Amino acid sequence: MQEFNEFVKDIETYIMFQIKQRAAELTDELKAKDRAPIALAMGAPVAKPPEFVYKQIIESLNEPQIHTYSSPKGESWFLEAVAQRMKNRFGVELNPKTEVFSLIGSKEGLANFIRALINPTTNENEKEIILVPDPGYASYTQMIKTNGGLSYGIELNKENNYMPNMYKVWEKIKKDGYNLSKIKAMIINYPSNPIGATCTREYLKHIVDFCKEKQIWLISDAAYCDIYFNEKDKPHSVLEIDGAKDVAVEFYSFSKPYSMTGFRLGWICGNAEAVSTFGRLKSTIDTGIFKVIQKAGAQVLNSKDGDEYIKNSNKDFKTKQMIIINGLRKLGWEINDNDIPNATFYIWQPIPPRYKTSKEFTDDLLEKSGIVVVPGSAFGKNGEGYFRLSAVATDEQLNEVIERMKLDGFSYQ
Ligand SMILES: Cc1ncc(COP(=O)(O)O)c(C=O)c1O
Repeated sequence: MQEFNEFVKDIETYIMFQIKQRAAELTDELKAKDRAPIALAMGAPVAKPPEFVYKQIIESLNEPQIHTYSSPKGESWFLEAVAQRMKNRFGVELNPKTEVFSLIGSKEGLANFIRALINPTTNENEKEIILVPDPGYASYTQMIKTNGGLSYGIELNKENNYMPNMYKVWEKIKKDGYNLSKIKAMIINYPSNPIGATCTREYLKHIVDFCKEKQIWLISDAAYCDIYFNEKDKPHSVLEIDGAKDVAVEFYSFSKPYSMTGFRLGWICGNAEAVSTFGRLKSTIDTGIFKVIQKAGAQVLNSKDGDEYIKNSNKDFKTKQMIIINGLRKLGWEINDNDIPNATFYIWQPIPPRYKTSKEFTDDLLEKSGIVVVPGSAFGKNGEGYFRLSAVATDEQLNEVIERMKLDGFSYQ
């Protein structure tokens, strides 16, 4: 039989689904020893989305022609609501007709944007390069690989305060022997998955200046920009920076702030040429999002209910974060107050030194205690030695996680 293409034929199932599958296989065995799996691998909040969203869905279901094809771009009222949200939240002005496009979740958008950017080749020396954060969202590297490109990991660490100087990185890429003219774009993700790191406005300016100087696209993944714990220091949009629209697009999601993971809704905004090219590609791939979902999304974005929901769920995420942080501290992890993330629901901590690899630790945690987390190695070369726990379950479950770790011998030393 003919083979699938070089970039896809050997691809593995996305790591989170592999982990989910493994937990499902072990469920009976774990239940038998009172260790039913507690899912802390995926970044999927368990809380119910805002009641307001359900009300809007039920109401709009009866509207005439709501059941018909949407446009891949998104309905005009959805795009206008997005532009309004960007203005309200960040003070960013956008033309909803040319600078915004709807997404079937930001994962879909990122994958198709990367597809639009890369000229695929099987020749390793000719491959076009996209710079990605390392550790970073595991999908970036897979999206780049399956589209025939190469990813280059930018090391994020405590020493560079998770905000590396890009001119130094550029020198390093050169020293590593890569052809700089092949670099097409860089991806940033603040607040970050898996670290929970945030960045300053000054750093965003540094990134914009750098991308402008090098004439490469800037892809800002803002999926977590509304999961924050300090009202006075909210995450910024890169589009707040003067001139950012010359080089940048930004991706947003309804999944995390409104717990709407299953609804599959997001948007891309920014540079009009990039949005238009991406949009023309998407018009050949999908036919938009069910208008009922868009309606609920459009209405929650600028509503009091939506803002209240974000405020309350951030309070809940903080409580959950501290259950795990304080629990790990009691188990011997040394966690300084300064190192507790100010955003996201991720806990990123070193594995106990007695384990050789992060996978060895997370497998042990799953098999002995039914605690489902992700090995740091899944997030890039620099993730080895760490594990990521999504503090998204109920408080009871999170307390149970710490209790099981204590009973089953999972102390740091
Ligand atoms: C950094 C980052 N970007 C994008 C996504 C995709 O989210 P969605 O497709 O649900 O919008 C995720 C999901 O976990 C993520 O962690």
